Amino acid sequence: MSKLPSAERQSVVIVGAGLAGFNVASALVQRGYEGEVTLVGDEPWQPYDRPPLSKQLQLDGDESQIWLSPELPPKVKQLRQRKAMAIDPQRKELRLDDGSTLPWDRLVLATGTRPLRLAPLDALPRVLTLRTLGDARAIREAMTSVASLLVIGGGPIGLELAASAAALGRQSTVVEKSPRLMSRSAPAAMADILLEYHRSRGIAIHLSRTVVALDEGSQEAVLDDGQRVPAGLVVVGVGVRANDELAADAGIACDDGVFVDGWCRTTAPDVFAVGDVTRQRNPVTGRFERIETWANAQGQAQALAAIWCNPDEARAYDAVPWFWSDQGSARLQCAGALTGEQQVWRVDAAGGRVLVHWSAGLVTGVATLNATRDFGLLKKLIVPRATITPEQFSAPEANMRALVQQALAV
Ligand code: FAD
Ligand code: NAI
Repeated sequence: MSKLPSAERQSVVIVGAGLAGFNVASALVQRGYEGEVTLVGDEPWQPYDRPPLSKQLQLDGDESQIWLSPELPPKVKQLRQRKAMAIDPQRKELRLDDGSTLPWDRLVLATGTRPLRLAPLDALPRVLTLRTLGDARAIREAMTSVASLLVIGGGPIGLELAASAAALGRQSTVVEKSPRLMSRSAPAAMADILLEYHRSRGIAIHLSRTVVALDEGSQEAVLDDGQRVPAGLVVVGVGVRANDELAADAGIACDDGVFVDGWCRTTAPDVFAVGDVTRQRNPVTGRFERIETWANAQGQAQALAAIWCNPDEARAYDAVPWFWSDQGSARLQCAGALTGEQQVWRVDAAGGRVLVHWSAGLVTGVATLNATRDFGLLKKLIVPRATITPEQFSAPEANMRALVQQALAV
């Protein structure tokens, strides 16, 4: 008689070989999952990490650090450059772009997102987007022959790339349609500091503006107020859309993201989803959101493997969302919900900025700029109970480590 419950021997097919898909496959094998594990990805490369694509890779072109490690064990069957075309949830089959079908007992969707485009500019050769290694290589290559980079969108893609281009000596411009930077992911007060930081390093930032045309002759872009800005190369970073069509076509509940519960279950039996493609309940806001971060892709994938391999100890995934963004020498880190009604600043001994938000007496969010140690400490306080007060946090003599330790010991 087998010592394992039958669920642990079921065959698993994972669609999408990005961070989330890679982590499901490797964590299952590490945890001793006995069923077949197949990872299907449409990119030609072995699985790699995306964060360096806008930062270090633009600066030095060194690709040796981007590959996800340790390498997948041979037990994982990998299909590269193979696109999944359709799911048949009744027959439990996945149709691939070569016409073949893969049977599965359990299917995991880890298909991520793709960049939104700006239709009028789309057809122009020097207008690029950034998501894949191929995109990053194309941007780096194009950057060698131009004097200026224009990024449309003042989110993390735009600002990280603009900072990289400035460091490479290119004239760097950001055009953002809202009145502030990072409106999706960072608090306004932090965005204001970043604005000052980037401008002080020579990056031109135009807020509340959009690009209406590109002048091919002069290699300039025309903004909606008639201003002309240098645009040797243009990168569009105006947000993403979930690759959820496979799920939607199979009748699985989606809304620009596949709905999942804390067990990574979709609305179809035995079909699961992890990473950027999911729309999940944010434990801090209580809303169903797409959490577009490296930590979520990794954490949700690991949680799914734990749920399957150690069902007795498993718990629903409810990690507090967080991300980092390295923009030149500025390291922004944000966790939780930065919308609380009360917010307090501190400046640490080395000049790093620390911002904490409270709502109804609970710490709901932490944002820091060049204050990595305090970020690591304070984000532990985003729990559903009272921990520290704004007065304790802002007391001049406060020692963050001691304060956090005391609050968590209670
Ligand atoms: P993806 O990484 O998008 O992987 C999905 C994979 O599925 C892709 O390879 C895709 O081609 C494939 N796929 C899609 N459809 C199919 C199909 N039908 N068949 C087969 N394969 C398919 N986050 C941070 O927290 N900090 C950072 O500093 C940071 N920097 C970033 C920099 C860049 C340039 C980018 C693009 C993202 C960055 N992120 C960062 C976000 C982070 O990388 C993502 O949250 C993470 O990659 C999500 O992983 P994923 O596996 O869910 O999706
Ligand atoms: P984003 O949604 O964070 O930011 C897009 C920005 O573009 C917004 O500020 C928006 O107001 C602006 N915008 C939209 N339409 C515009 C227009 N027509 N003209 C000018 N501005 C316009 O998305 P972004 O920066 O493109 O990032 C894409 C994905 O990559 C996200 O999932 C993000 O999490 C991920 N990423 C994360 C990083 C990090 O966390 N450090 C770094 C790079 C990418």
